[in-house]
Amino acid sequence: MTADLTTARLTLRMPDARDHASYSAFFADAEASRFYGGPLLPYQAWERLAADIGHFMLKGFGRFVIEKDGQVIGGCGILDVDGWPGHELTWWLLPAARGQGIAQEASRAVLAWAGTELGWPRVETHFRDENTAARRLTESLGGTKQRRETFPDGIDRDIYAMPTTEKVSA
Ligand SMILES: CC(C)(COP(=O)(O)OP(=O)(O)OC[C@H]1O[C@@H](n2cnc3c(N)ncnc32)[C@H](O)[C@@H]1OP(=O)(O)O)[C@@H](O)C(=O)NCCC(=O)NCCS
Repeated sequence: MTADLTTARLTLRMPDARDHASYSAFFADAEASRFYGGPLLPYQAWERLAADIGHFMLKGFGRFVIEKDGQVIGGCGILDVDGWPGHELTWWLLPAARGQGIAQEASRAVLAWAGTELGWPRVETHFRDENTAARRLTESLGGTKQRRETFPDGIDRDIYAMPTTEKVSA
């Protein structure tokens, strides 16, 4: 069981069965989820939820859900999928939650957690070239490009690294 992370505005907790509706809402939105494998039907969103819960069991870390004012508005955490070239800091936000610095605030909590709890000096991430929101977010977290790789899905992506030493601004 991984403890919750808290920031000034947010609580990050392990996903559980309550989160199916939030996952379904995000993945039903083709535009919002286009860089995240969407759109997906509700049963497919449930499979993503099950995988996110399972990731914590398999690796001891994973993608948290982000709660604000008691509502789940997105997710943020670290995935390390076997067969994929390395781990990644990853995020998704419902459209109404974007443009407020929420992914940045959640990421700072995850980076601090990775440094203190996992003992990692840095965390990597990657995204599609056209995902400008993910690039801006990564650069705002101190991320710098390390290398470019061809992923198992045949797509070339830049891989960035961010330091885990930043303090949570809660
Ligand atoms: C990637 C994603 C999470 C980024 O969301 P975001 O809202 O742009 O990121 P943040 O929550 O950190 O907000 C930053 C924005 O809020 C603004 N902002 C407002 N208040 C702010 C505050 N207090 N602090 C920081 N930024 C603030 C910033 O100016 C910035 O806007 P800009 O991008 O127009 O310059 C979002 O686009 C998403 O969910 N995409 C779909 C999933 C996805 O592609 N994930 C990555 C796959 S690899």
